[in-house]
Amino acid sequence: MTDRYAVIGNPIQQSKSPLIHGMFAEATGQDIAYSKIEGPLGGFAGAVDVFRAAGGRGMNITAPFKLDAFAYATERSERAQLAGAVNAMKFEGARIMAENFDGVGLVRDVVHNLGCALAGKRVLILGAGGATRGALLPFLAEKPALLCIANRTLDKAHALAAAVAPHGAVQAGGYAELEGQSFDVVFNATSASLYAELPPVPASAFSQAVLAYELAYGKGLTPFLRLAQNAGVQQLADGVGMLAEQAAEAFEWWRGVRPDTRGVIEKLTVPLV
Ligand code: ATR
Repeated sequence: MTDRYAVIGNPIQQSKSPLIHGMFAEATGQDIAYSKIEGPLGGFAGAVDVFRAAGGRGMNITAPFKLDAFAYATERSERAQLAGAVNAMKFEGARIMAENFDGVGLVRDVVHNLGCALAGKRVLILGAGGATRGALLPFLAEKPALLCIANRTLDKAHALAAAVAPHGAVQAGGYAELEGQSFDVVFNATSASLYAELPPVPASAFSQAVLAYELAYGKGLTPFLRLAQNAGVQQLADGVGMLAEQAAEAFEWWRGVRPDTRGVIEKLTVPLV
């Protein structure tokens, strides 16, 4: 029997998840159907109840429901707990298991696909919102020499650093404090690129950098990537690989088979121009 999965969000039209999981299913011979559900605002739990009652086996969760999914779950992984947000759920009877694969997907893209080890590196992440929260534990598991979180709103950066301090060398501050410091890898996890804005990171932060990574996907050469390019950073990337890898993590969690992500990444890549 065909097993049912879905992605839920609002809006949902833009989601690439059905395409990605469809490609994974075809490549691995898994008999699944994967649909899009536009969850009514304020009506997340009801929409998921309906999907589960109809035999749904698992879901991806996108904006604005990642916190609702966290509340809805009966079991949450450690990284979902730290992120305070959930991007994948698995249903088994009354059990609602929740995960957050965004950070592990990001790390896998950087280390495995882009060939940039984070171990021993000075890593800078811009922003202290949901995207950063999801990335912190997976980053620290790679044992960077330093993980620095920079944010406009200082309190948020400090709170995140304090929450993960037992897991590794982490530091937090404002953008002005970055002046004169250099990093090996710089990630933009702010939502600035969605509005074609530039977080106020000084160009000097890129002076030693080998990789600049924009977590947003499909926006071309964003102001952040352009700044990095002008500062001489050789390798630029956006979040297409992260998108594919977090999906692969969920697919493996649901189906027990690890799909290859190369075809998906090739298909969804938008040139960085
Ligand atoms: P997400 O879930 O995508 O991370 P979020 O939780 O709303 O979204 O967080 C957005 C992040 O982008 C925040 O760190 C925000 O900074 P503040 O906490 O100071 O608001 C950051 N951000 C958004 N626009 C920005 C801009 N133009 N310059 C710098 N940072 C920006």
